[in-house]
Amino acid sequence: MSLNALINFAYIAAAIMFIFGLKMLSSPATARKGNLISAFGMFLAVIITLLDKSIISYEFIAIGIAAGSVIGFFAARLVAMTRMPEMVALFNGFGGIASLLVGWAVYHFTPEIPPFTAVTIFLSVIIGGITFTGSVVAFGKLSEYISGKPILFAGQHIVNAVLVIGSLVLGALYCLNPAGNYLIFSIIIVMSLILGILAVIPIGGADMPVVISLLNSYSGLAACAAGFVIQNNILIVAGALVGASGIILTQIMCKAMNRSLANVLFSGFGATSSKKQEGVQGEAKPLKVDDAYLILEAAQSVVVVPGYGLAVAQAQHALRELDELLEANGCEVRYAIHPVAGRMPGHMNVLLAEANVPYDKLIDMDNINPTMNTVDVCLVVGANDVVNPAAREDESSPIYGMPIINVDHAKLVFVLKRSMATGFAGVQNPLFFKENTRMIFGDAKETITGLVAGFKNN
Ligand code: TAP
Repeated sequence: MSLNALINFAYIAAAIMFIFGLKMLSSPATARKGNLISAFGMFLAVIITLLDKSIISYEFIAIGIAAGSVIGFFAARLVAMTRMPEMVALFNGFGGIASLLVGWAVYHFTPEIPPFTAVTIFLSVIIGGITFTGSVVAFGKLSEYISGKPILFAGQHIVNAVLVIGSLVLGALYCLNPAGNYLIFSIIIVMSLILGILAVIPIGGADMPVVISLLNSYSGLAACAAGFVIQNNILIVAGALVGASGIILTQIMCKAMNRSLANVLFSGFGATSSKKQEGVQGEAKPLKVDDAYLILEAAQSVVVVPGYGLAVAQAQHALRELDELLEANGCEVRYAIHPVAGRMPGHMNVLLAEANVPYDKLIDMDNINPTMNTVDVCLVVGANDVVNPAAREDESSPIYGMPIINVDHAKLVFVLKRSMATGFAGVQNPLFFKENTRMIFGDAKETITGLVAGFKNN
């Protein structure tokens, strides 16, 4: 077998591993294995690529691999679970800039560029540039280095449209005569970087996870284009897979919020909502932990609704302990999982898996809602927007139409949070003032530990 055939054969094997790995990631039971299989596929692809005879020097590659591995290892170890979306944003950005640099390098060092390669270079540069600065802005918004509020200015859409059309026109000019158009090529790079910033600043912090998923898709498309530039089959396949899975995830998230992608990208969601929603809408009824324990002790059926606050409080282990005590007391405990609870897809699944909560206790929103009126107590742990009945009842609410977990249909609702503060969308929650709702104020971990102590001491 020739070396070329061996390389392509290994690439096909790697691509199959990526596809099976991705498929396995769709279920918590197989996700770990899927991750490993995909990682092995990538390892194989990297090793095989290094056999390529066109590689001139291995030194820079070795330095890059060593530096990347060290940074990746520490990032994975040190970054808190709650900061994972920011890290993913940065990863996407690095993917984008890598594709831009590959396209640029090939353009810079190749004297005669065929038309098809010129087009793929243009695509890898423009998409890569947008992905890079867009991801950096998304990172800045999520980590609050810049305001999470939508940044809007008059004529924003027109400026963006001019930039898009302008870069396409310049792209066409460059592709017609790549060799003589270095200046135009440089302007395209600058425009792509500006476009990335302008495309993301008008999007509110609450929509950032959707934007990150979309940018993830862009980074895949940029990599795919870069794959065509350097004629590397596995880069084309891997880029296409990332591009497709990113857009599918984006759609799933939009559907879970009942919003169109255009609405997420162009509506400036969250710019005006908080002012309108200010003001108390009734009287909340606080409950002490000891009294909550007495009610839970008599409950036959409890549904836990975890949200972002569970991750902040790191209360998942205490929650698991409470679950065991409730079950030992003859109570059925289930968990209601909203697709956009937390700050990233599958956030609650990961958190509960960390505490060894069995997968079969995790029930999707659509399956738990019809059973909600039979539930004795709904334990809302650090969730807010995903249980906000305004999404169902109040047509003027910015989150109207977003599917929610109907906790207010349960006989009793305990809301565990520290204050009356709004959630990520900045929208007031009428659940807190409902007749059957009791507020248990405090850090979720402390509250749950108190409930656990109640069971243990009585
Ligand atoms: P949020 O609506 O953000 O509410 C979280 C609540 O947790 C806050 O109201 C906060 O109240 C409470 N909290 C924070 N720290 C706490 C602690 N230590 N102990 C107890 N409570 C604590 O969360 P959610 O219901 O999970 O909704 C997720 C939001 O993110 C939605 O708006 C969703 O659309 C958005 N989003 C998510 C995704 C993904 S993929 N997950 C994607 C796009 C958008 P206090 O400050 O009063 O404690």
